[in-house]
Amino acid sequence: MPPTEALLALRNVSVTYPDGHVALHSTSLQVRPGEFLVLLGASGAGKSTLLRSINGLVRPTGGEVVVPDLPATGLFGRHLREHRRRCGMVFQQHHLIGRLSVLDNVLIGRLASRSLLGTLLPWRREEKLAALAVIDRVGLLPKALARADTLSGGQQQRVGIARALVQRPRLLLADEPVASLDPATAEDVLNLLHGICKKDGLTAIVSLHQVELARRYADRIVGLQQGRVVFEGSPADLNAGAVSELYAHRPAAVPVNGIPEARLPHPPITPTQPKELQPC
Ligand SMILES: Nc1ncnc2c1ncn2[C@@H]1O[C@H](COP(=O)(O)OP(=O)(O)O)[C@@H](O)[C@H]1O
Ligand SMILES: [Mg+2]
Repeated sequence: MPPTEALLALRNVSVTYPDGHVALHSTSLQVRPGEFLVLLGASGAGKSTLLRSINGLVRPTGGEVVVPDLPATGLFGRHLREHRRRCGMVFQQHHLIGRLSVLDNVLIGRLASRSLLGTLLPWRREEKLAALAVIDRVGLLPKALARADTLSGGQQQRVGIARALVQRPRLLLADEPVASLDPATAEDVLNLLHGICKKDGLTAIVSLHQVELARRYADRIVGLQQGRVVFEGSPADLNAGAVSELYAHRPAAVPVNGIPEARLPHPPITPTQPKELQPC
């Protein structure tokens, strides 16, 4: 595909963390307008690193993220701010502020469009109406004034989606958006996210570890294993051989504070606004 057709491209992007761990080897990828692109891979494959390098939450140590109308020589300062404004992000652990209402959590998505000084100003009527409109789209209008910490996990993720949408992004990045949900709720939430993207023509890059969900919703799947792209194709191309290769070197679950990952409770609501959602 010629570069002009891509909404965004990665050119030989690699990420080595300060401890020397290479989480992403040289990766090139073209993101097509309107596609629902799924990054598939086991835990530790590099999905979050790749997603975060797209919106600058992780700075690539090699290569570049190319956005057609922004300078290709690395995104900094106002160009990075503009790029981040265009990239809505949905997180696995929602990153909601529990004591705030659904409406106030969603309005946080509007901060990306404000200057640092502007963040001190009260919300405008149009901003509140825009927030209520996306809350309605995710089916939570009756809960708009409820505290976020009174909602179920699936409802909280709907708020996370609404917060990303109110930003009016060109690209939606979702990092394991349904990994903390039970299978039925995961299906509902992914179905909602997919439906909104398709209706709006919104391009999405969504990381998942569930093969079946990837097969059902992806227009295209990029399979990662140990920081390398080992598969790229349509869901129909993802045959049993490709799946077993993708999960061949799955690392053992890493205990967190001595508790195996699978036994950790539902992720807590963060008490304060996380770094990722603060204006840069
Ligand atoms: N901040 C970090 N410092 C060092 N290593 C990291 C850091 N974040 C992730 N890693 C490592 O990079 C690899 C890829 O991680 P990640 O991108 O989170 O994978 P995934 O999202 O597919 O689970 C893993 O081996 C992980 O332990
Ligand atoms: Mg991850």
